[in-house]
Order: sequence, then C-alpha cells, then structure tokens
Amino acid sequence: MPKPDAPFLISGTREVGRELVELDTVGSTNKHAADLLSLSKVQHGTVILAHEQTEGHGQRGRTWSSAAGKDLTFSVVLKPGELKASGQFMLAKLAALAVYDVVAAQVKWSVGDRADEVRIKWPNDVLVARRKIAGVLIRTEVQGDRVTSAVLGIGLNVNSTELEAELGATSLRLETGREQDRRSLLNELCLRLEHYLEAFHSDEQGWAEAYTDRLFARGRWADLELDGEPFRARPVDVDEQGRLLVEDEAGEVRAYGHDRLRFIR
Ligand code: BTN
Repeated sequence: MPKPDAPFLISGTREVGRELVELDTVGSTNKHAADLLSLSKVQHGTVILAHEQTEGHGQRGRTWSSAAGKDLTFSVVLKPGELKASGQFMLAKLAALAVYDVVAAQVKWSVGDRADEVRIKWPNDVLVARRKIAGVLIRTEVQGDRVTSAVLGIGLNVNSTELEAELGATSLRLETGREQDRRSLLNELCLRLEHYLEAFHSDEQGWAEAYTDRLFARGRWADLELDGEPFRARPVDVDEQGRLLVEDEAGEVRAYGHDRLRFIR
C-alpha cells in the first residue's frame, strides 16, 4: 500500500477528530472503535482512520471493500449525552447529510450543475447519478432509553477507479475526473459532522429536513422489495424511527423499516 508521506491532521473542529487514531491496516475501523469503547479507552469525537481495511463491515451483514491508500474508511466515536434510543435515527441523518455535503461540493465544483444528481438513498447511502459513492454503518450502545455511545462508520470511494460495475459503485475520482485529496476530504467530513451534531444538540430547526429533500426517488415511483416481494411505491419521507414512508399504488402511505423494505437496484 502506498504510505501517506505525513500523518493526517484534522483542524477547525472542536470535538470531531480532536483525537485521530491513524492506522495503516485494520480489519474494520468500526470493530476497532467498538473494542476501544469496551475498554473505555476512547473519548467523544475520536476518529479512527485506516488506510486499509481487510474486513470492512457493510449493511445487512455484507462486506465493504475499498482500495488500500485510495479511499476513505473511518469511524467516529460519539458519546452523545442526551440522545433517546427512540431518536437514534438522527445519527443516520446527520452522518448521511455530512457525507452528502462533501460529495455534492466536489461534484458541483468539478462539473457545474451536477450536484442535483447527488442523493441520499435511505437509510444512509450516498449516490451520484444512481451509483453508490459512500456508505454509512452505525452501531449504537443503548442503556435504558438512552444511547450511551455510537460509532459512525463511513466509507467513501475517493480515488478508486476499479470498482465492481455490477455493484453500481462510483468514486469521486470517476465523477470529477481528477485525483482527490483524502486529507482535505476527511477534514471536511469532520467539519460537516460537527456542524450537524451541533445543529442537532442545539435543537436548531430545519436541518433534518434537508435529509428528506435529498432523498433518492422521493415522490417518484420506485422498485422496492417488501418482505422479499417486488413492491412499487413512492418514497415520501422518513419517520422518527427511521422508517421509510411510502405511498403504494392504492394511494396508502405506510412506514416500513429496513428489516422489511429495500430498494432494488
Ligand atoms: C454500507 O454497506 O453501505 C455501509 C458501509 C460502511 C463502511 C464503513 S468503512 C469504515 C467503517 N468500518 C467498517 O467496517 N465499516 C464502516
């Protein structure tokens, strides 16, 4: 793996990335973060970055692959204080929005008005022109009705060019046509995460609505799968528990969790 010539640094944040653990290789940064949490050896805001993941975890028990030294794979440890277990989907929203902002800024900067092709695919994938560029995997620890800690694991395809076409994946390099700087992208991601965390904790109104506005296929007929069966419906919004509200062909609006509902590519 090509080694970075100098350590990564995160600047301009108060909490997110105040401590940065930079690893050449690890199985999974989420697993590493969980291990540190179980040993009480990690503070709120710590970022664990790996230049190579050998056993990256994805959603629904899948694996997450990334190119060593080319992409970004990292986890952020949060000890959110006052977060009710019932409201934990807020973490998914803020992580998706932070990734969205960074991806949209690059895509827009490079190719003019293409930022509107950047979408959040429920629950928290980020797509460019229907191809997946980033994924988020969140693990929370809950005691009683409170979230005591959370690990936000983010995988962003940055400079990969050899992506498996059948997975419908893309990278910033492919979308913008130029090599991207992983250091500044990580810094931007931490800044945006901190921005949304602060908006969330200060009860700022409106920030979470951006998630709904940016939802992939919102208001359009989409091919989904409900309990394993094909299901055509129009995504409308997401409820507080993170269930997708969809309108079916009979005009009924119902909410489903991702244990039952998924998009078919
Ligand atoms: C998905 O399947 O879309 C979620 C992918 C999440 C991948 C990231 S990479 C950093 C962190 N560590 C992991 O093992 N997974 C997450």
